[in-house]
Amino acid sequence: MKGLFLTTAIDYANAKPHLGHAYEKVLTDMLARFERRKGVSVRFLSGLDEHGQKVQQSAAKTGQSPQQFVDAISAEFLKLWKLLKVEPDDYLRTTENRHRQLVQGVLAKLHAQGDIIKGTFKGFYSIRAEQFLTEKERQPDGSWPEIYGEVVELTEENYFFKLSKYQDWLKDLLMKKPSLIFPEFRAKEVLGALEKRLPDLCISRPKSRLAWGIPLPFDEHQVTYVWFDALLNYVTGSGTGEGKLEHWTPAVHVIGKDILVPAHGIYWPCMLKALGLPVFEQLLVHGFWTRKSEKLSKSTGNVVDPEILAAKYGADSFRYYVLREMALGHDADFDEESLAARRKGELAHELGNLLQRAGSMIGRYREGKIPASPSPDAVSEAFRATVLSALRKWDELMTSRQIHLALGELWKGVQAANQMIEARAPWKLAKDPAQATALDATLADAMAALELILEEVACVIPSTSHAGLQQIGSSGKISPREKNWPQWPSHHGGRTLGKIEPLFPSLDEERRDR
Ligand code: MSP
Repeated sequence: MKGLFLTTAIDYANAKPHLGHAYEKVLTDMLARFERRKGVSVRFLSGLDEHGQKVQQSAAKTGQSPQQFVDAISAEFLKLWKLLKVEPDDYLRTTENRHRQLVQGVLAKLHAQGDIIKGTFKGFYSIRAEQFLTEKERQPDGSWPEIYGEVVELTEENYFFKLSKYQDWLKDLLMKKPSLIFPEFRAKEVLGALEKRLPDLCISRPKSRLAWGIPLPFDEHQVTYVWFDALLNYVTGSGTGEGKLEHWTPAVHVIGKDILVPAHGIYWPCMLKALGLPVFEQLLVHGFWTRKSEKLSKSTGNVVDPEILAAKYGADSFRYYVLREMALGHDADFDEESLAARRKGELAHELGNLLQRAGSMIGRYREGKIPASPSPDAVSEAFRATVLSALRKWDELMTSRQIHLALGELWKGVQAANQMIEARAPWKLAKDPAQATALDATLADAMAALELILEEVACVIPSTSHAGLQQIGSSGKISPREKNWPQWPSHHGGRTLGKIEPLFPSLDEERRDR
């Protein structure tokens, strides 16, 4: 069976999760579920980035030790993932022993093979960004851009990873295989950064300046640079067992556009090469959420709390909205009204109503049992062809990572089912015994379409899909697709429906408005 190692970025454990974090985890969870449905054996890894200056500083502000602080933050993140049905196979916190051991093992190996060397560094350092700055970052008036916060001049004895040694190899690799980065236009950003000679990467910090990190195994006065530590989470969490590096499944790393250059696009492949590990199959780079076209930021009061949204609209509506709204790879603007409108329209009115009306008519006209499907008449043939074609397009677009468009295609199947019911008017057919076959066809076709659609959309709205499938008498369990998918199901004649209930009940405020 084909395998896939699918990862998210690990979030900084210095504040509560926000919309950007939630989107990325929902996106990756959805991809994991989708791939499993396609029969791929997926290992889905997520986690928290718990070391470094930012965390140390945030902890100090609360008067807690860094460990106490990250323990509390990790509980917040885990609570949100549970609420949003983000279900990784492993959730790695970089303060765990298994990770510390792996990082130290990697450092010792690279040091022994001469890829990590000692050197002196003199330069300008941004405490906020935790990085050394170069003259090119300076503004024309000599000051540093505000994003870097306080900038100090430092001279330090440090250890360096020989990044420059791998530059030509990386450039060559990216030119040959631009699909390593999705969307491909982002590969150009990495290639652009590789135009000039890369300096070696400073991978340690003196303990005197930063205590909160993994100690170097060969120098007790230094701790590991947080990015070097964080990127290795993918190795620790690859399921290879403690400290072992020999096994590595094809990896797809889902990340945001801000951490492509240099971290994932340059440092990471060079680290893998130095370690003798195969390079990832793909970096899947998503864009940023904004609000009223501005960056989400606490200082402008622009933050969006995913927990509040999920509590108000339901986790599945939140998942559907972010995946339907954002073109993967591009930025999108968050708008709560649009979330509410998609919930009310596409989810409640189109999908929810389809189940409600077809289900209640089966209750009313067929004693709650799905009728066996008669041999299809012309209306049935056309309807089935429309739904199957929507499913095929959904699959194609999902596979090419155009998720928002894929959902649009799937909804064409939902809309076709509602239109078919309108056109056939089963409430009229039910009055005429001569139309019993047409009534059976209408109800059976609606149920079959619902089943096909709910099984596919389970990766996006897992709880609703499960509930909906149970209402239409299936177990609700999502198994891999049949070999000849998509095929019109013919097995549910005689199946008894469960209790039909609204999949997306009206919100209190919508009820008030009526
Ligand atoms: N800790 C590093 C990642 C290390 S991965 C080895 C980090 N953490 S972060 O908390 O700042 O960001 C975590 C993820 O959230 C990143 O992929 C980042 O791009 C993403 N997002 C942060 N803000 C975002 C938006 N406003 N919109 C969408 N995603 C955003 O970077």
